[in-house]
Amino acid sequence: MTIVEPDADGLRRAVELLRRESVVAFPTETVYGLGAHAFSARAVAEVYRLKNRPSWNPLIVHVANVAAARALAHEWPEAANELAAQFWPGPLTLVVERAKHLPQLGAPTLTIAIRVPAHEVALKLLEASGLPLAAPSANRSEGISPTTAGHVLRSLPEVPLVLDGGPASWGIESTVLDLTTPTPTLLRPGALALRPLREVTGAIALPDAVGDGTARPSPGMSRRHYAPKATVLLVDDVKSVDRDGLAAPVAVLSYETAGDYDAAEVLSADPREYAADLYAALHRLDDAGVGTIIVQAPPDTEDWLAVRDRLVRAAR
Ligand code: TXA
Ligand code: MG
Repeated sequence: MTIVEPDADGLRRAVELLRRESVVAFPTETVYGLGAHAFSARAVAEVYRLKNRPSWNPLIVHVANVAAARALAHEWPEAANELAAQFWPGPLTLVVERAKHLPQLGAPTLTIAIRVPAHEVALKLLEASGLPLAAPSANRSEGISPTTAGHVLRSLPEVPLVLDGGPASWGIESTVLDLTTPTPTLLRPGALALRPLREVTGAIALPDAVGDGTARPSPGMSRRHYAPKATVLLVDDVKSVDRDGLAAPVAVLSYETAGDYDAAEVLSADPREYAADLYAALHRLDDAGVGTIIVQAPPDTEDWLAVRDRLVRAAR
């Protein structure tokens, strides 16, 4: 694998690989993606193989603009128009009905998940290649998403090329919203918070809102996900944890104080800043070879929804 600067030469090499139906990792504003021509059976198969991704889990498609997104949709609802106008390019993935003429690659679905990423390098790559790019996060399935080119290298050393765009600014995946249900349904909490979304769409059904029967989980939301190698304990009170019998070294991940542990990551008490550092912190603790990570559970409020979701999954 080579990590290259996203200059004219780097982009040219990346486009060449994509056109040859190979794969390329590239930066987005959320996390790094493993990009492939979305309608090449060979390229898509390579994405599944490299990630060891279960065949039932569909891929999201990245496009350069709204017109390219509409071309992939059977129907483009008014809500999609309004959301795209407000939040694209940006960390919002929309699930809409899929255009009938598109080939079924990867997991067969009646719908398609699409976004326009807000990253100069990603947009340049989309424009220069002229291809819709399938790009799941560039990590082995169930592992921690990469927020730097170095993380991609460690997780997927077989990837031929990584465009290095520096650390991802959001550091957590896009919010996935399903527009094919009567009430838009949140399939994955992510970088974009619910409040600004609701201002556009009105009510949003949450994954746990089983009461009205409209909520269903995103196919990719497996219980164990975003998991470091260490055992993760998610607790309200770090100090109350009995450390006897825990696999050593024992680390703490908190947003307040560190205390006396073998390793510690103290992140911001602001949810956006915390999210931006979370995966890098988990990667560092894994690199340090810790056996247990005691994680201070963040508040159970909507601002922390995406972070809590990832921590709960990491702890399973
Ligand atoms: O921020 C992101 O979304 C990053 C960057 C690279 O863009 N990508 C990413 O991809 O996180 P991935 O594959 O790791 O997560 C995409 C999520 C998965 O949970 C998948 O199951 C879901 O979107 N998804 C994909 N296609 C879908 C569909 N047609 N209907 C419902 N969910 C879908
Ligand atoms: Mg992922």
